[in-house]
Amino acid sequence: MSVMAIVGAQWGDEGKGKIIDELASHTDFVVRYQGGGNAGHRVVFGDKEFAFHLIPAGILHPHVTCIVGNGVVIDPRGLITELEQLRQLGVDTNRLYISERAHVVMPYHVILDRLEEEGRGLEKIGTVLRGIGPAYVDKYSRVGIRMADLLDVDHFRTKLASVLAHKNRMISQIYGQPPLSLEEIHTEYVGYAQQLRSRIVDTQVMLHKAYKEGRSILLEGAQGALLDVDFGTYPFVTSSSTIAGNAATGTGLPPRSIQHVLGIYKAYITRVGSGPMPTELFDEEGEQLREVGHEYGTTTGRTRRCGWFDVVVGRFVARLNGFDSVAIMKLDVLDQMPTVKICTSYRLGNRESTSPPADLAEFASCEPIYEELPGWRTSTRSVTSWNDLPENAQLYLKRIESLLETPIALVSVGPGRGETIHLRDLNI
Ligand code: GDP
Ligand code: IMO
Ligand code: MG
Repeated sequence: MSVMAIVGAQWGDEGKGKIIDELASHTDFVVRYQGGGNAGHRVVFGDKEFAFHLIPAGILHPHVTCIVGNGVVIDPRGLITELEQLRQLGVDTNRLYISERAHVVMPYHVILDRLEEEGRGLEKIGTVLRGIGPAYVDKYSRVGIRMADLLDVDHFRTKLASVLAHKNRMISQIYGQPPLSLEEIHTEYVGYAQQLRSRIVDTQVMLHKAYKEGRSILLEGAQGALLDVDFGTYPFVTSSSTIAGNAATGTGLPPRSIQHVLGIYKAYITRVGSGPMPTELFDEEGEQLREVGHEYGTTTGRTRRCGWFDVVVGRFVARLNGFDSVAIMKLDVLDQMPTVKICTSYRLGNRESTSPPADLAEFASCEPIYEELPGWRTSTRSVTSWNDLPENAQLYLKRIESLLETPIALVSVGPGRGETIHLRDLNI
């Protein structure tokens, strides 16, 4: 009987997919509100594993209706591939709906993402090259193509012809690459629209009805708050607003319908792509986190940069989103660490700072000041209750909770369903 937003609280890959899959067993709807195929939400169920890029991670539950919201940018080819992969795993995908207002990722977006990245040289952002930035640029430039546009073949051709003429000038005159064919793109995308037609609906109407009926709805964020286009480590961010404030805009639900905002943190921190990360480890401990935590990108396979839990950005993000509670993921990855560290403030020149500077050069020069706590050197993998956690793991979590000034509701100790300790009733 609630609407809950689930938000990544670091630089993405916190384990949102696992928590959404788990909470979806008590939920009627799961709705993605932003991002696109740049996301990779991995869910382990039994002996199977699936990485969701566009489809909400609730689809594995037969009773859940899943929606790709208006705030998402959709590459229809990627979506169709994902649907097919799920079908092959025996998952019923008939309950997936797509907002007719969602913008479409077009072939020129993917090409421009690559060309722009190449042009940035050493300043490259490290995007996942799925066309996400260029698609959002078109949305805000008011030249984007929306899912509903694909359904009217002639209208789509007129719109595409006008946009493509401009894109082809950029591709050929600025980047010296061959122009794209209107006919080919038109035929290809009309084909996708045929396959997706029955799913493309006014999801805002569906959601309002569900909300009025008191159904329970999870709003699924992608990426993380530190990649948010306004509050992240700009310009090393993604091109959408990833935080709870956008969960309403990206779905069409009223802001005040959201009763609970759950923040997802790892028990340490990771980042893929470029940009500063004050607690990044370049030593054996960083390597250990990467190996034990399998910190390799779900979407690109890239190595994730690893570091200690950073409360400075953590608290900033908790306030920004107004987290009602948080989940601490992958505690088990720290199991064999002799000691664990928490960054409580930054040294910035000759002063100490407890909030991240907006200026990127300043942020890049921040040095972490750590609190060191004893490790627990015991496996937490099979622990199911707070009381069974090693005392030092409890101390570590309590310290994080107090520094974040937000209650911990969930502690995750393994990738599988059920490998989660529930500390508070989330009331969904
Ligand atoms: P998301 O993008 O936030 O959904 O996160 P990803 O799926 O990209 O990355 C999280 C990875 O950690 C996935 O491979 C999960 O299966 C895995 N995972 C999630 N929770 C836990 C946990 O508590 N312990 C361990 N060891 N792995 C976890
Ligand atoms: P999930 O939902 C981690 C990063 C990219 C790059 C920056 C911009 O799985 O947590 P983009 O392609 O979005 O223009 O790239 O954002 N990035 C992610 N990092 N998890 C993600 O998603 C990400 N999606 C984008 O690596 O640094
Ligand atoms: Mg991910």
